[in-house]
Amino acid sequence: MKKLCISLLLALGVPSLALAWPWSTDMMNQPSIKPQEGEMAPFPARSIPVMGVPTPVSNREESRDLKNPIPVSAESLDKGRVLYKIYCAACHGLTGKADSPVASKIGAISLVDSYVQETLTEGWIFGTITFGSFVMPAYGKPTGREDLRGGNDLTVEERWHVVNYVKHGLVKDAQAATRTASATE
Ligand code: HEC
Repeated sequence: MKKLCISLLLALGVPSLALAWPWSTDMMNQPSIKPQEGEMAPFPARSIPVMGVPTPVSNREESRDLKNPIPVSAESLDKGRVLYKIYCAACHGLTGKADSPVASKIGAISLVDSYVQETLTEGWIFGTITFGSFVMPAYGKPTGREDLRGGNDLTVEERWHVVNYVKHGLVKDAQAATRTASATE
């Protein structure tokens, strides 16, 4: 009986001292911000586009004759190369030859062939990056929403760096990659 009393006392006493009853909500009240509470802290720059990145044209047709405002320089090609590897290589392949594992499944074309290198204008490539193509997603829709593709991932300037790289760096890099590959065979 004595043992029972002690365990009952412990069972009731300890939680009451620690305020650990199942219905105690003291842990709820702490200095953290709960969903929908208070003012939202601003997102770090460019983490989530809200207003979209302004684009000088509203569709791919209009972009065809745009002049590339960014001169081809080693610096621009370096920036373009980094962005290309992040945004384009997954489909078009690291060397641009449509040699990624998914390229043939989704129909991603080679970017080193004369169609892209000679026929397409720089403005058109800028427009393709901005608005997407048929299967290809958009990387700079002004609203960031239209048919829910893309998300303004690249600024206008970044897109031109990619254009510079596609037109003036990709083919050279692809040739260098082939040479390295055959040298190590
Ligand atoms: C999710 C896969 C995917 C990614 C990522 C991607 N593309 Fe494409 N791209 C495609 C496919 C598929 C096509 C061919 C079908 C089409 O036009 O949609 C294409 C076509 C193109 C064309 C030809 C457009 C035309 O008028 O025929 C260009 C130029 C191009 N891509 C450049 C790029 C660049 C530059 C990037 C990186 C910013 C990129 N792509 C990222 C899938 C992709």
